[in-house]
Amino acid sequence: MDVCVIGAGYVGLTTAVILSDLGHNVCCVDINETRIKELSESRVPFHESGLSALMNRNVEVGRLSFSTNTEKKIDENDVIFIAVGTPPEKSGRPNLEAFDGVVQSLAGSIRSYKMILIKSTVPPGTNKNLEAALLQHGVDPDKFDVVSNPEFLREGTAVEDALHPNKIVVGTTSTGVVDSIHTLYKGIHAPYIVTTPEGAEMIKYASNAFLATKISFINEMSRICDAYNVDIEDIARGLGTDPRIGPHFLNAGLGYGGSCFPKDLKALEYSALQRNVVPTMLHAAKAVNDSQIDFYIKKLERKLGELKEKQVTVWGLAFKPDTDDIRLSPAHAFIERLQEKRCIVHSYDPMAVPSDADGMRFSDRYEALQGSDALVIATDWKEFQESNWPKVRERLKGNVIFDGRNCLDPETIRSH
Ligand code: NAD
Ligand code: UGA
Repeated sequence: MDVCVIGAGYVGLTTAVILSDLGHNVCCVDINETRIKELSESRVPFHESGLSALMNRNVEVGRLSFSTNTEKKIDENDVIFIAVGTPPEKSGRPNLEAFDGVVQSLAGSIRSYKMILIKSTVPPGTNKNLEAALLQHGVDPDKFDVVSNPEFLREGTAVEDALHPNKIVVGTTSTGVVDSIHTLYKGIHAPYIVTTPEGAEMIKYASNAFLATKISFINEMSRICDAYNVDIEDIARGLGTDPRIGPHFLNAGLGYGGSCFPKDLKALEYSALQRNVVPTMLHAAKAVNDSQIDFYIKKLERKLGELKEKQVTVWGLAFKPDTDDIRLSPAHAFIERLQEKRCIVHSYDPMAVPSDADGMRFSDRYEALQGSDALVIATDWKEFQESNWPKVRERLKGNVIFDGRNCLDPETIRSH
């Protein structure tokens, strides 16, 4: 099939690469000229394991290309994916400016039949609104179908997740498109969930809301466990063996961040309130997460005393391991709180893009420790678990290691 993917971010680029690898002819377009230039020079503008190799392989065989000319590429292809960002506004409502920009491009470029699939995470009703907008612009209703096809990949494992999804969700009112979608994803083995467009839009929000709630649940449990001197890791293991609960997303720590959970929880809350539904559970999940950093700051203060003029080294700046993405990173929120308390912060991350919220950033994690009163692990990078603890001991002034991701083995560390 001839495919145009609009948006060359984590979702768009991964989708384009995977579809080209499945044998389709794909063009990935973006309004960001620098990004398209980098991609055209075989460089992926963010870190995503395996993406660069797979991308270049498909570019080389001529199945994948890049462009900034959205209208032209819409015109040339029959399958159009929308994968642009939908960041939150202050009210929680997703900002659909980028999405609306694509609608304008579509309205002016549909001359032959297009199957338009929305991969961006959008509020319930957006698929219908897109259809209505195109009709309003005078586009022939026989020349397009709009399908909700939300994405469930995680950053850091985007390629693996896109190649082996646990489901393919299709939201449509036109049963005819389902066969085309099977052809599109031929080679990917996953159960299909076919529902209405609003159903598909809601599955996406509900999934992220549920996962975020699971994290807030274990974080609240960790507070109760702390009060009773119980190890939360034991509780997570005890819960996880029950197949009705499952072992995943039960890692207590600094809380969830990133460009999706915080945004999507707010968006779902907003959608609920728009229809006068009070989303009590969502409020609670958000409230636990919003106060998690303070909970940890208090713990640190109990150990170190007043933080003013203390020096703390933070290992980990990315919002999770195996990515350079720092959007709404809990590590940054933590550093900001330390700095508000006039604490001197040294930081290190193996990959995160630099930002103002890094404190004094070091390129060597052991050098970052020199003279610090405490070490805080804010992102659970595997390399931190394999640290040279005698070297840590040598550099650190104090002996406080504060594992904000419960990823270290305390006994191993104590033994040093
Ligand atoms: P991103 O910010 O990494 O990329 C979005 C891209 O869209 C940018 O490169 C931007 O320049 C481009 N863009 C904006 N307006 C455009 C236009 N009019 N025409 C062409 N390109 C345009 O975003 P992302 O993380 O890939 O997320 C995209 C969507 O997918 C969001 O709705 C997000 O919630 C959802 N999602 C993200 C993930 C994830 O892990 N990042 C996973 C599932 C779903
Ligand atoms: C999340 C979902 O997992 C994806 O399915 C979804 O497609 C994506 O959002 C999206 O809609 O964009 P992602 O944000 O990449 O993916 O990362 P996760 O692995 O879910 O982690 C999110 C945050 O939760 C991170 O800050 C992580 O450290 C934290 N987390 C995760 C915990 O605190 N505890 C856990 O047990 C798991």
